[in-house]
Amino acid sequence: MKYQLATQTQASSINTDCLIVAIYTDQQLSSAATELNKQSNNAITNYLELGDFTGKAGQVEVLYSLDGIKAKRLMLVGCGEQAKFDVRALTKATETAASTLKSSNIENAVSFLADELEDTAMAVQQAVITSAAIFYQFDQYKSKKSDAIALESLDFAFSQEVSAETKAAITQGAAIAEGMKLAKDLANAPANVCTPTYLAKTAEGLAAEFDNIQTEILEETDAEALGMGSFLSVGKGSEEPSKMIVMQYSGAGADVAPIALVGKGITFDTGGISLKPGAGMDEMKYDMGGAASVFGTMRACAEMALPINVVAVVASAENMPSGEATKPGDIVTSMSGQTIEVLNTDAEGRLVLCDALSYVDKFKPDAIIDIATLTGACIVALGHHISGLMANDQDLADEILQAGKDANDEAWQLPMTDDYQDQLKSNFADIPNIGGDRSAGTITAACFLSRFVEDKKWAHLDIAGTAWKSGAAKGSTGRPVPLLSQILINRAKFSN
Ligand code: BES
Ligand code: MN
Ligand code: ZN
Repeated sequence: MKYQLATQTQASSINTDCLIVAIYTDQQLSSAATELNKQSNNAITNYLELGDFTGKAGQVEVLYSLDGIKAKRLMLVGCGEQAKFDVRALTKATETAASTLKSSNIENAVSFLADELEDTAMAVQQAVITSAAIFYQFDQYKSKKSDAIALESLDFAFSQEVSAETKAAITQGAAIAEGMKLAKDLANAPANVCTPTYLAKTAEGLAAEFDNIQTEILEETDAEALGMGSFLSVGKGSEEPSKMIVMQYSGAGADVAPIALVGKGITFDTGGISLKPGAGMDEMKYDMGGAASVFGTMRACAEMALPINVVAVVASAENMPSGEATKPGDIVTSMSGQTIEVLNTDAEGRLVLCDALSYVDKFKPDAIIDIATLTGACIVALGHHISGLMANDQDLADEILQAGKDANDEAWQLPMTDDYQDQLKSNFADIPNIGGDRSAGTITAACFLSRFVEDKKWAHLDIAGTAWKSGAAKGSTGRPVPLLSQILINRAKFSN
């Protein structure tokens, strides 16, 4: 799919298979619709007079053969109350339009929907991402494939000349959408395909595709030599070898400190000897969602050729029970030298992440952000709409919160005060891998990680609730690729 800026601003003279415009309740027309209505001798208002189309959100109608309009079709999209039209409403309208395009024979379309918000840059970036999400199909493992989508290009038009920033936002949206697609493909792939080895191959694939991405895979023997006893303890029960995957994106000079992204890549989490209950366990194939978002973000970053440096570390293992698996009460030694009492083998994410956090230090990053489907407690706290954020540096937390707002992929900060740190006490080792009780499970997990970053600027994103959807629409969301990509975009702006 190609996403680009339409060259014309006058709707009626645009030559396309389908024009897409907003219609509000009470027969309020968007500016593009107003112009089209005038040129077509009131075709739109005459149609609205019939009363079938009230303009409420979710409504859509395709008109054709309109005099005075060059486009072959005109798609009217209900956008609700004009005064209340915001990014959320734009997203809904875009979903409606994209779904209609998806099931049509339309090959090229021009949308004026993003023209309806003042911040056209943010609007159009969102429109591209939303459209791509609707067009996404994952049918690799089905004998009967979904119908191919006829649409080849979707252009975005504005009734006035737009800034270079808005034009760039389309390219950014397309890059983020590509990154989300990679993240979704990886996360949706079953765990018998998407293993730590598969993720390592994916990193090598990115390095082959993009000149400024380099990768290095640390095998179990390398991890052993580095003293990553915590990381290695997680994959001990699995036949699949664990991999510590390192990727470096170089978009700026070698002297510029990189931002570090650290992803949890548990390709399947049975819980280990602390076995999870059976119901819904298939969803633990998504326990590499953090890793998937790191891959997606690296791809988006390389696609945008951002003038920054990024280092990514993906800690990947499969958490299985077996005669060789780590047992509750086992004590392991992390790369940092701290000993860890593994009181629950199901709290494995933090065990792989802590060694990745120690390792990434060698790249002298300016800031470290880890991304992990870390705790069920985060879903209890925040549900499925917003990711959990914890940090040891408020400026970094604020930067992430702002990027979340910019990209419409939000995070919410939780506290991480010393009282929570006190919940981590072990009788036999330096630190246990779970808090003393179940309370504040998301925060005590973050407190555990904080012990491995000490004085470095660090933030932790718990994406347990946002990385995938359960139920009838089960599948990866591709989040938080938009949030992470936006952090990098915003940093690139500042570096200029
Ligand atoms: N991958 C899970 C967290 C998870 C659970 C994400 C459900 C999404 C949905 C993680 O490894 C885990 O098992 N965490 C435990 C921690 C507990 C043992 C302290 C949890 O959340 O129950
Ligand atoms: Mn677990
Ligand atoms: Zn897990």
